[in-house]
Amino acid sequence: MATDDRSTTRAFYDRISDAYDLIAESGEHAAREAGLAKLNVHPGEQVLEVGFGTGHSLVALAKAVGSTGHVTGVDISQGMCDVAERRVNAENVNQQVELIVTAVPPLPFDDRLFDAVSMSFTLELFPLDEIPAVLAEVRRVLRPGGRLSIVSMATTREGEHDSVLERTYKWMHQHFPHFVDCQPIDAAGFVRNSGFVDVNETRLEIWTMPVAVINASRSS
Ligand SMILES: C[S@@+](CC[C@H](N)C(=O)[O-])C[C@H]1O[C@@H](n2cnc3c(N)ncnc32)[C@H](O)[C@@H]1O
Repeated sequence: MATDDRSTTRAFYDRISDAYDLIAESGEHAAREAGLAKLNVHPGEQVLEVGFGTGHSLVALAKAVGSTGHVTGVDISQGMCDVAERRVNAENVNQQVELIVTAVPPLPFDDRLFDAVSMSFTLELFPLDEIPAVLAEVRRVLRPGGRLSIVSMATTREGEHDSVLERTYKWMHQHFPHFVDCQPIDAAGFVRNSGFVDVNETRLEIWTMPVAVINASRSS
């Protein structure tokens, strides 16, 4: 993402942070939960969330890792971080959670640090030519055998019914990228091409828009 695009993204999410749940939560909640279920986090694990938004998954992940584990979140927006921090404090899981405001990529961590990485409705915000760099960073910070979960707006596949919403998003992103910042992607294809193994994909829908729930692993 060019520096200007990052500033635009940061400013956009700062501006909508207080309203984000009103706009997105009803549609995205079920898919996000499906991603967390597939990630199957255990007590004691070290988990990273990239693009933690308003912090719903951070809370669920913190409860899953328990007092012996740890959850680290990175997000570009201080506004989203403020909302997430309030949620983490209200749910009393702040001991297990660390929040870092930074633009990805890169990821500011050593190699092989995390047991699991979660990303929901975030990979599709990156320009297509930057997604491999994001996934390479995710792979680098996962330990061998570590798990990845991605929930993403998806391109329609042959055999799936046509989604006007999916086509609209693509068109809007192409013509007004600062207004519609995301685009449906073939996330499973990107994950496979980035060297992850055991790639598994489940398809859901939000208002006819296909959504991919993907889990994969870093090979040992
Ligand atoms: C659509 S929201 C999804 C939030 C959350 N994962 C969820 O499912 O509700 C995308 C999030 O990614 C963050 N984000 C966008 N671009 C980013 C980047 N380059 N680096 C880090 N975070 C980014 C935004 O600030 C926002 O909080």
